[in-house]
Amino acid sequence: MVHAESSTFASGVSKAEAYEQVLEQARALMDGQRNWVCNLSNVASLLYHALHALPAPSNATNWCGFYVLDPTKAEQLILGPFQGHVACQTIRFGRGVCGAAAASATTQLVPDVEAFPGHIACDGASRSEIVVPVVQTGKVVAIIDIDCAELEGFDAEDQTWLERIAALLAEGCDF
Ligand code: SME
Repeated sequence: MVHAESSTFASGVSKAEAYEQVLEQARALMDGQRNWVCNLSNVASLLYHALHALPAPSNATNWCGFYVLDPTKAEQLILGPFQGHVACQTIRFGRGVCGAAAASATTQLVPDVEAFPGHIACDGASRSEIVVPVVQTGKVVAIIDIDCAELEGFDAEDQTWLERIAALLAEGCDF
């Protein structure tokens, strides 16, 4: 059963508690549901609301969502489900933070987007960013992208939890 309360997060919880709730709710929502549009949409909502329940800088998250493989062009990402302002529709592998994560299949933790060569400024408010690849049977099938309007919005703890969420999505979705 899906309840809007699944993405209601108590304020004052720790980062670990917030991400634990995201994982728990995502597992419940994905039980019996493998459609990627459906699951990535709900996980974008869970992450956005979880980060907004946390203290600064996490609550300055201004964009949170996914890019997936573009079925019409090799080595290209296309915009997937997200929360935030409208964003770039396609990104070539190797371009920007998202393209770097997709091309290398490794997380990109960017404390200052202006210091990242080739960063693509979709939302001018973004100051820092984390991009985590979703890898299924050795192939990048999607990336999680989260932007923060403050510098150093994300740390190693975010990376650890987001990589767990990426693993859950790789296991539980048909792309
Ligand atoms: N900043 C990203 C582009 C996507 S938006 O942030 C939603 C990048 O450099 O790849």
